[in-house]
Amino acid sequence: MISVECDGESVKRILEDLAGFGGAPAFEHPLRVGAPNIGDRERFSARLDAAFARGWLSNDGPLAKEFERRVAQAAGTRYAVATCNATSALQLAIRAADLTGEIIVPSLTFAATAHVVSWLGLTPVFCDVDPLTGQIDPDHARTLIGPRTSAILAVHLWGRTAPAERLEAVARRHGLALFFDASHAFACTRGGRPVGGFGDAEIFSFHSTKFVNAFEGGALVTNDESLARRVQSIRNFGITAEDEVSHVGINAKMNEASAAMGLTSLDSIDRFVARNLDNYRRYRAGLAGVPGIRLIPFDEGERHNYQYVVIEVDPRRAGISRDTLRHLLHQENVLARRYFHPGCHRMAPYADRPPLPATEHLSERVLALPTGMSVTRTQVAKICEIIRVVVVNSQAIAERVPMEVGAR
Ligand SMILES: Cc1ncc(COP(=O)(O)O)c(C=O)c1O
Repeated sequence: MISVECDGESVKRILEDLAGFGGAPAFEHPLRVGAPNIGDRERFSARLDAAFARGWLSNDGPLAKEFERRVAQAAGTRYAVATCNATSALQLAIRAADLTGEIIVPSLTFAATAHVVSWLGLTPVFCDVDPLTGQIDPDHARTLIGPRTSAILAVHLWGRTAPAERLEAVARRHGLALFFDASHAFACTRGGRPVGGFGDAEIFSFHSTKFVNAFEGGALVTNDESLARRVQSIRNFGITAEDEVSHVGINAKMNEASAAMGLTSLDSIDRFVARNLDNYRRYRAGLAGVPGIRLIPFDEGERHNYQYVVIEVDPRRAGISRDTLRHLLHQENVLARRYFHPGCHRMAPYADRPPLPATEHLSERVLALPTGMSVTRTQVAKICEIIRVVVVNSQAIAERVPMEVGAR
C-alpha cells in the first residue's frame, strides 16, 4: 500500500489505518457539520433572567427588538423583522409581496426554499446553477420566465453569493420581485456591499446549525418600509393595531429566549468567523494537491462567515466517488454531509420536473466538511489526512469496497 506523509500529528498513513479497513476511528466522538456555536453562556443566562424579571417572553420583546437592530446593522438595511425561523420569514415575504403563480428557485438548495413556495399554493420552477460555483444561473432563470412568473427566489449557496446584480437586471427587465434566501450568508458581502440589501428583501436563518444561532430563528431584512410593515403584521396574525386585523396573518414571531441566544451569538461573531476562516484555510492547505478534490473557494476580497467548507469530488481524478469517500469518513466519525443531494427537483414532491444538468452534476459530487467552534485545527488536519489516504489508495479501495457500500 502507498503511505502518505503529512505534516504534524499523523494517525492515518496506509489503507489499513482507515476505520473502514480495520483501523481505529480517527475520532472518538462524531464531528458534525453544523454543530452549534455556543457563545458566552453567562451572558445568555443574564439575558434570560432579565426577560423573566420583566415578565416579557414574546410579542416584540426588548431582546427581539435589540436583535432586529443588530441584524439590520450587520445587513446594512433599514429594517429587520425577526421571526421564529427562516422558513416562516420566506413565507411572509411571499405573502407580503402578494406573489402568485410561479416562482423561480434554484434546485441546489435546502428543501425549504422550494417548500415555502409550494406550501403557499404557488409553483416552484427550478433553475440550474453555475457548475463551478453552484450559484443560480441568471441566464437559465431568464429562459424560465413565463406569463405566470411573479418572482425569483435566489439562494446565496454555502455563504458564497449569488450573482445578485445580474438577477436584479433580469427581475427589473421582466417586472419580477426578487428575494434572496440568505440563510447561509449572514455577515457576508458581495462587491463590498453587505448581504441584506440585494433585491426586494433577503432572509437569514439563525437555526442552531448556522454559525450565528438563536436555537431557531430567522429574519427578513429590507430597505422597503411598506414591505417591512406588512411582514411585521403578517408575522403577528395580521394585527396592525389593538383590535385591528388588516391581513390574513400567522404566528411567526421570535420569542425572547431565541433573541437572547441570537444576541449572545452576535456578541461572539468575530470569534466564530475567525475560527471558521482558520479552519477553511487549514482545509485548503491540507487538501491542496489531492487529485480530484476541489475546495469550493471563498473570495477573500469579500467578508464571509466561512461556515460551509465544501469540497467537490471528481470521481475520475480522485479514483473514488463522493459517496464512497463520505462512507469512509463516516466510519472515522467525520459526519460529512451531502449539501445538497439530491437537488430539490429530484425530491419526491417535485420529481416530475425536467433535468438540470449542472445541479445533478454537483449534487453527486459535493460534500460539506465539519467546521465551527467545536472543530479544532488538529481535527481539520486529521480529516485532510484521511481524505488524502483515501485518494492515494483509491484503486485498492475500489477493489475492496462493494459498490453498494459506497453509494449508501
Ligand atoms: C438554504 C436554506 N434555506 C432555508 C433554510 C431553513 O431555515 P430555518 O431552519 O431557519 O427555517 C435552511 C436551513 O437550514 C437553508 O439551508
